[in-house]
Amino acid sequence: MAASGCGKAGGGESMKSKSLTLFAVIALLPGCGSGRTPTPYVEAHSLRQLMDTVMEPDAQVFWRSSGAVSDVTGTRDLTPTSAAGWAAARSSAATITETGNLLLMPMYARARGPDWVGFSQDLVRAGQAAEQAAIRRDGDAMFEAGAKLGAACSACHQAYLPQDQAAKADS
Ligand code: HEC
Repeated sequence: MAASGCGKAGGGESMKSKSLTLFAVIALLPGCGSGRTPTPYVEAHSLRQLMDTVMEPDAQVFWRSSGAVSDVTGTRDLTPTSAAGWAAARSSAATITETGNLLLMPMYARARGPDWVGFSQDLVRAGQAAEQAAIRRDGDAMFEAGAKLGAACSACHQAYLPQDQAAKADS
């Protein structure tokens, strides 16, 4: 019998002692002990993959919709000018917000310091401000939110990555 599920083994009176033994064994398996329930979600991405495939691309979408860039040809305002542009900015902000919430899930939060929760919540709040700015179509608020978002990313990187890696993650 495969020991899938926790404490589901056995059944019927005659199985009682056998079930108890099996239960004792299963209780020792990871995630099946007292007070711990198995995670119902699928651990689909490592933290690094989540950063590379969700967090970074969505942050780039938002940053490319906020503030201004200057080059030899002059200064160009990045604030969206179309409904599609605002929708993309809003969607990226919402994704960042929820990715911040994901960082609080055990698969990412376990084995971290107590400041992990604060860094993740700061990112969620920055993401919420970013989404509000996009909903209001407020260019100044977009710029401010973009800066706050960047600060929330680097605060956690500074604490959890070696200097050179943190600099790379924030570049
Ligand atoms: C709560 C902490 C935390 C927050 C907030 C956070 N990160 Fe990260 N980030 C990490 C950690 C830890 C790593 C290192 C992951 C690894 O290499 O295993 C990382 C790595 C990265 C990397 C490098 C991935 C690689 O391939 O080396 C990028 C890019 C990145 N983060 C982008 C972002 C952006 C953009 C934001 C904000 C919108 C952000 N992160 C917010 C913790 C965080």
